Amino acid sequence: MYARWIAWAGALGAAALAGYVGLARVAGAGDRVGEGWASRTVYACDQRKAVIVEGVRADEKLPPAKAQQVADLLTDLMRYCTEEITATIGMNEAITIEANGRVFHDYVPGGPLPIVKASFGEPTPREEQIWKAELDRMVAEGDRLFHSDEIGTNGLACAMCHPNASNTHPESYPKFQTQLKKVALLRDMVNWCILNPLEGQELAENDARMKALEAYILANRTGVAIQVGKH
Ligand code: HEC
Repeated sequence: MYARWIAWAGALGAAALAGYVGLARVAGAGDRVGEGWASRTVYACDQRKAVIVEGVRADEKLPPAKAQQVADLLTDLMRYCTEEITATIGMNEAITIEANGRVFHDYVPGGPLPIVKASFGEPTPREEQIWKAELDRMVAEGDRLFHSDEIGTNGLACAMCHPNASNTHPESYPKFQTQLKKVALLRDMVNWCILNPLEGQELAENDARMKALEAYILANRTGVAIQVGKH
């Protein structure tokens, strides 16, 4: 029991360090936080699930088996899509879960977790409206650029040769392109066409105009099956 408390205190310390607040008890000076072992925290892509691995330093790579265990645990916790959950894999391999201010010991992945769904709900109609509006805005900007001569210098526009993004085949990327002599992504071919025929300057991969052009091209191919490498 004492060992478990120490493990939990360590988890608390790490969670507090990781910016987690609102837990039942914050580790004080008397706790043996960080004394016996270090820990490394891995977040899921949603930033709402975290796994704290004890016995691994924050700057240390997880051994393959441990990394797989963390990945499996994060995937498992994604069942609770919108919740904030922190799991700690203790030195004794026991998994402790902290969710919505409650603590569950000896969690078995895949098992039931009687958490109260509290932190986030399903997207509201208003949120969905905002998401759609943001996407529509990006696609509309791509539409504008695709029909504009401002990407190049000689007056040509993408749409003059690719009306409605025809023959852009985004679903076939990545694929080997002979003109580039390498496997290309869609953005590489966008840049290729910007260089010639448009005689413009290549766009950086994270350029907002590149993203907008890709969004417009892809939006025009909704429903087409992805066929990577197809010529
Ligand atoms: C003068 C006509 C012309 C213009 C203008 C033009 N392209 Fe192209 N584009 C072509 C041709 C021809 C090909 C076929 C090249 C190939 O696949 O070998 C092509 C290929 C592509 C491809 C790859 C298609 C595939 O089948 O894999 C993409 C993507 C593309 N263009 C995007 C654009 C974009 C974005 C613009 C504007 C920045 C643009 N193009 C402007 C003629 C044009």
